[in-house]
Amino acid sequence: MAVHSISRWASSLLLLCIGLAHAHTVITYPGYRGNNLHTNGTVSEANGLGVAWDEKNGSYIYPYGMMWMYPCGGMPTSQNRTKWPVNGGALALQPGWFPGHQTALIYVNFGLGEVPENMSHPVVSPFQITGPTNDPYPGTICLPQVPLPANISAKIGDKATIQVVEIAKHGAALYNCVDIEFADPQDPDIKDSVTRDNCFNSSDISFQYMYTTSGVGSGAAIITPPKQTLLALVPLVLATLLGGLM
Ligand SMILES: *[C@@H]1O[C@H](CO)[C@@H](O)[C@H](O)[C@H]1NC(C)=O
Ligand SMILES: *[C@@H]1O[C@H](CO)[C@@H](O)[C@H](O)[C@H]1NC(C)=O
Ligand SMILES: *[C@@H]1O[C@H](CO)[C@@H](O)[C@H](O)[C@H]1NC(C)=O
Ligand SMILES: *[C@@H]1O[C@H](CO)[C@@H](O)[C@H](O)[C@H]1NC(C)=O
Ligand SMILES: *[C@@H]1O[C@H](CO)[C@@H](O)[C@H](O)[C@H]1NC(C)=O
Ligand SMILES: *[C@@H]1O[C@H](CO)[C@@H](O)[C@H](O)[C@H]1NC(C)=O
Repeated sequence: MAVHSISRWASSLLLLCIGLAHAHTVITYPGYRGNNLHTNGTVSEANGLGVAWDEKNGSYIYPYGMMWMYPCGGMPTSQNRTKWPVNGGALALQPGWFPGHQTALIYVNFGLGEVPENMSHPVVSPFQITGPTNDPYPGTICLPQVPLPANISAKIGDKATIQVVEIAKHGAALYNCVDIEFADPQDPDIKDSVTRDNCFNSSDISFQYMYTTSGVGSGAAIITPPKQTLLALVPLVLATLLGGLM
């Protein structure tokens, strides 16, 4: 029994190391603004702030980690945009980078334009995932066909930002973004870029249930508490919603 759990522990550690070595990112497809899995400075140096200017070193410090900074985890708009299909496309992420995400709520929003004024265009109903442990864990989830915000049409060459928000068990949200340029789905840069290797669901991360869909596509997300009656409908809602995305 003890040996069994040690080997399980060792293999999950190994998996984690592989994950770590593979890519320091949360959004694995279509990319990310940059590595923000980064913590520096101390809470006392920042006097309890999440981000503070450190006089001594002449730079900002993030004692809790950059990823907790709204709207894009401390990263500014990037210059290296990824092309993404103008009719919607895939989004893959690794939700287990920080402790506290055995369960997590995931939100996916769009910001429109080169430097978006807001990230207030939800595109997927918020959903919950359950991971294998409350410690950091490896693993990927992928939504193969994330749509554009409702009633928003984009042209090839338009720019936008995809924001992923992940809410930990304790309610804090971490943020990640990728800056995109809408492209023809047949564009050689993206045509065959979604594969089984970068868009898959790890078996130890499960999708639980969806909240109501009322917020999707409106200006700002409306967060509705889960209702027992809805829980029973979940597989159906999930199937309908995600089926609609396929
Ligand atoms: C953009 O550049 C940053 C910094 O070099 C890099 O970490 C990131 O992966 C790049 N993102 C994309 C989408 O190419
Ligand atoms: C900032 O500078 C101080 C003193 O020079 C040093 O002790 C501290 O570790 C530095 N902070 C970071 C985050 O590097
Ligand atoms: C802390 O991290 C930020 C973001 O990477 C960096 O800009 C800053 O220089 C770092 N500060 C120190 C003192 O290391
Ligand atoms: C967000 O920005 C868009 C323009 O990109 C604007 O049309 C919309 O009204 C803004 N929404 C909110 C809630 O501020
Ligand atoms: C991952 O699971 C979700 C929820 O069941 C599903 O919508 C999505 O299509 C799956 N992704 C892949 C690549 O099968
Ligand atoms: C989209 O437009 C239709 C028709 O004008 C409207 O009924 C619907 O409420 C709009 N949806 C959103 C999310 O704004």
